Amino acid sequence: MTGFAAIILAAGKGTRMKSALPKVLHEIAGRPMLGHALAAAQSAGAAGATQLLLVTAPDQQAVRDYADSLDLPRNCLTHCLQQQQLGTGDAVRAAFDKAGKQNRFIVMFGDTPLMRAEVLAELANSKSDVTVLGFQPDNAAAYGRVVMQGDTPSAIIEYKDADADTRALSLCNGGAMGLSRRALEAYLPQLSNDNAQGEYYLPDMVSLAHDDGAATALVMAQPDDTMGVDSRAGQAKAEALMQARLRQKFLDDGVGMQDPDSVFLSFDTEIAADVMLEPHVKINVGVSIGTGTLIKAFTHLEGVRIGENAQIGPYARLRPGTNVGDEAKIGNFVETKKADIGKGAKVSHLSYIGDAELGMEVNIGAGTITCNYDGFNKHLTKIGDGAFIGSNSSLIAPVSIGKGAYLGSSSAVSKDVPDDALVVTRAAPRQIAGWGKKFRARNAKKDK
Ligand code: UD1
Repeated sequence: MTGFAAIILAAGKGTRMKSALPKVLHEIAGRPMLGHALAAAQSAGAAGATQLLLVTAPDQQAVRDYADSLDLPRNCLTHCLQQQQLGTGDAVRAAFDKAGKQNRFIVMFGDTPLMRAEVLAELANSKSDVTVLGFQPDNAAAYGRVVMQGDTPSAIIEYKDADADTRALSLCNGGAMGLSRRALEAYLPQLSNDNAQGEYYLPDMVSLAHDDGAATALVMAQPDDTMGVDSRAGQAKAEALMQARLRQKFLDDGVGMQDPDSVFLSFDTEIAADVMLEPHVKINVGVSIGTGTLIKAFTHLEGVRIGENAQIGPYARLRPGTNVGDEAKIGNFVETKKADIGKGAKVSHLSYIGDAELGMEVNIGAGTITCNYDGFNKHLTKIGDGAFIGSNSSLIAPVSIGKGAYLGSSSAVSKDVPDDALVVTRAAPRQIAGWGKKFRARNAKKDK
């Protein structure tokens, strides 16, 4: 059993993005479009693709570097260089030269981030030599048209090569395709570039197979599945569609949202049932949220694990490396980074907690700051279980506050504090009676 190989075409220039970044590295829901394509191929069918043949242009090293950086199974990824962009058929040729022993292949594009694994699985599982992915868009525009003979496709005609009758057909080619090894061996060499665009068209495999008496078949997709991104506007549209999909998945799984359209999620977001997300919550990559937790409005999360029955926000910013324990509370205008916040701890107002370990039931008063950076290095602040940090304190790291210790308000602490101690670092107040009155009088004379 050799499974199927996925050929991912990504050699196109993507000039309409007007970006220094290669098109397939632009992100949708926090992951490059190519990452979505590779993940869909990997999770298509029971076992996913056994080989990912990635077609890039020679100058797209950044694309190859990205694919290499992914945690793919050993020897699964094969780079295939297409020297010149001579068309989708030529790109598949570059890949097939490097294919393993699989008998089934799917061809897909690196810039269709909404393509679902279920659809690819249908192409991979098809028994026909050439399986077309058709769709019915609202506006058939310049898509290739699928010509049917009875139940089976007999040809795909590119829009630029099509006559008026063919252009009037509403069944369009979605781009992806399922192919047998036999079809690739027999028909790839027969592709010609004698057409309106002077390109080797992959879709010509359909008429070559049909005319040869080989089996062709049609699998239908939703228009979103085949939506290619080739401009910033297209990227924004794909992002909106992906967000809608992610929101629906979490709503179906029991996550509450007062205004789903204002909540933004990432491809890898994990949220348990009975979490409530208030409006305008932005969840970047690497976030998991435990059951019963409330995320209040205008909260921004990235690289954060939040336990159960916690409360975050409104207006909180939790940055990478933050772990919030069960029942903990992070309030408004609090920023955290690389911080373990213990079970039941409270950081309720206007604080920066960075490079810190807070024990259970710690209370951080308003305006407390961990001074973690000396201009060169970051240092750790440790606060033991049940410690109480008075408002407006500065914890000058590295520093450790013992369990059950108390810091008086406005303390600036740079030396370790033992368990249960009280520290007060406020300067003794000095009062000068009548000073204000004299000061104003002195300055009033100057004005004249
Ligand atoms: C293609 C289909 C068209 C279909 C449409 C659906 C062909 C000839 N036409 O047109 O029937 O309706 O998709 O979106 O296949 N690529 C390479 N090397 C090349 C050329 C393209 O890797 O030499 C890659 C591109 O990076 C892109 C993909 O192939 O990801 C599709 O190429 P593109 O030229 O955009 O094809 P379409 O015009 O969309």
